[in-house]
Amino acid sequence: MFHAVEVFVTEPSSTAAVSSFLKGNLIKFLLAIFAIVCLGSFVWIVEPFKQEPYLNAALNANGSIQKGNRLFRMNCVSCHGISAQGLVGPELNKTTTQLSDKKIIKQVTQGLTPPMPSFEIDSQSMADLLAYMHSLNE
Ligand code: HEC
Repeated sequence: MFHAVEVFVTEPSSTAAVSSFLKGNLIKFLLAIFAIVCLGSFVWIVEPFKQEPYLNAALNANGSIQKGNRLFRMNCVSCHGISAQGLVGPELNKTTTQLSDKKIIKQVTQGLTPPMPSFEIDSQSMADLLAYMHSLNE
């Protein structure tokens, strides 16, 4: 008759040291990754909000079609044509029915689609430009 004997196998001390070293560093490594992800998503979330004051100011201002027309002639006709019929850039007569005002503001201020440059334009002038562009498809 044999009695079952429980046998505890312990790691040799050298392997134990290595694995605890790895565990310690693994936690640091994971913490570092976690911190980077947090920081990244923080910037990703906060970045768009920085533009909100400008966007809101431009969206809420009362635009003047005449002033917008003047701004358009000075800055945009070289590429979009004297009557926004399109040249190097696409025609803009129907843009306000296809793009939101917010998207148009981003298009003008951020230079996301070269060769169209980004324009530094104050919010009132941006509202004027928007008013003019809205008047094109009336
Ligand atoms: C140097 C040439 C150039 C100038 C100057 C320029 N644009 Fe553009 N614009 C372009 C080009 C090229 C595109 C198309 C980009 C693309 O591939 O989406 C474009 C696209 C656009 C669009 C998006 C149209 C759409 O249907 O997607 C808008 C809106 C616009 N421009 C407005 C303006 C306004 C307003 C101005 C003046 C303040 C201006 N652009 C000045 C070249 C120019």
